[in-house]
Amino acid sequence: MLILSVESTCDETAVAITENGRRALTDQIFSQTGLHAVYGGVVPEIASRSHVELVSRLSERALEAAGVTKAQLDAVAVSYAPGLIGAVLVGVSFAKAAAYALGIPLIPVHHIPGHIAANYIAFPELEPPFLCLAVSGGNTLLVDVRGYTDMAVMGATRDDAAGECFDKTARVLGLPYPGGKYVDALSQTGDDTKYALPRAHVEGNPYDMSFSGLKTAVVNLVHHAEQKGEALDRESLCASFSRAVSETLVPRTMRLAKALDYEKIAVAGGVAANSRIRNDFKKAAEAAGARLFIPPLSLCGDNAAMIGCQAYYEYLAGTRAGSDLDAYANMEL
Ligand code: KG4
Repeated sequence: MLILSVESTCDETAVAITENGRRALTDQIFSQTGLHAVYGGVVPEIASRSHVELVSRLSERALEAAGVTKAQLDAVAVSYAPGLIGAVLVGVSFAKAAAYALGIPLIPVHHIPGHIAANYIAFPELEPPFLCLAVSGGNTLLVDVRGYTDMAVMGATRDDAAGECFDKTARVLGLPYPGGKYVDALSQTGDDTKYALPRAHVEGNPYDMSFSGLKTAVVNLVHHAEQKGEALDRESLCASFSRAVSETLVPRTMRLAKALDYEKIAVAGGVAANSRIRNDFKKAAEAAGARLFIPPLSLCGDNAAMIGCQAYYEYLAGTRAGSDLDAYANMEL
């Protein structure tokens, strides 16, 4: 089954063609990072406009790259929630028009199961049930993936997403946007024990997380150093910060996997590209005798192949949308 899928929830315009939920024939991605960098963050209006300009062209390019004709497509899929509403609306409008014009089904896909499905492309042997940490610029969730379309959130951040915290740290250090990868790069040569940063424990659910205290601690540390004219060891601050994030994410994930009696653990989303988090997960999984699945860097960030792969399983489960499909800024899993 060939699906043309569209992703436009934030600052990547992407169109992919995937086969049977496991293989990406092509994944065309245009990252708008360069358009937003000057503002230090995503400007919603600029994001929407750029999606409008590119989505048709990327679709044509995807068909050409995959060597697939429109007549060969079996369905159109779209990431319809959550995201920047104007940005999501572009993908949804395009997908609805394409499905209608081609007379084929339209499949709506929630962005988070999409991120999780990136693992199905990278690891053909991976099948539910498993535990997945979905960690990106907008979300930090521990998801019990009971089936391809049967998921339950077992833990979540109570405030900022981990990626947001990386981006804020980068910003206060004067690094470009989005800053996660720059913090990651600087941390390579730093001493991760140099700065004592907080790890929050939230009441109520042992698998919930909080990053706002850590974010504020980094901001205060940098501002105080500036005020006092003290030199800051940026590498060590990045290393200490990355360690604090990793020590929030990894032990919770491992404890929950044990509580659920899962031996398969997956990680997904942009922050899954972080080298400290990847290494800490590798060590923890090895120690626990668990099997770890983390997609290659190219599949961690927003892309359309992951949407097409999740769409295949949604299709098998009977999910269809009509031309009244709406875009949603927020939607629980
Ligand atoms: O999944 P994604 O592309 O978009 C969302 O759905 O949010 O994730 C983007 C986030 C950004 O916050 C970015 O700074 C972060 O992923 N990120 C990283 C790394 N690469 C990207 N954070 C830490 N280390 C990295 N290497």
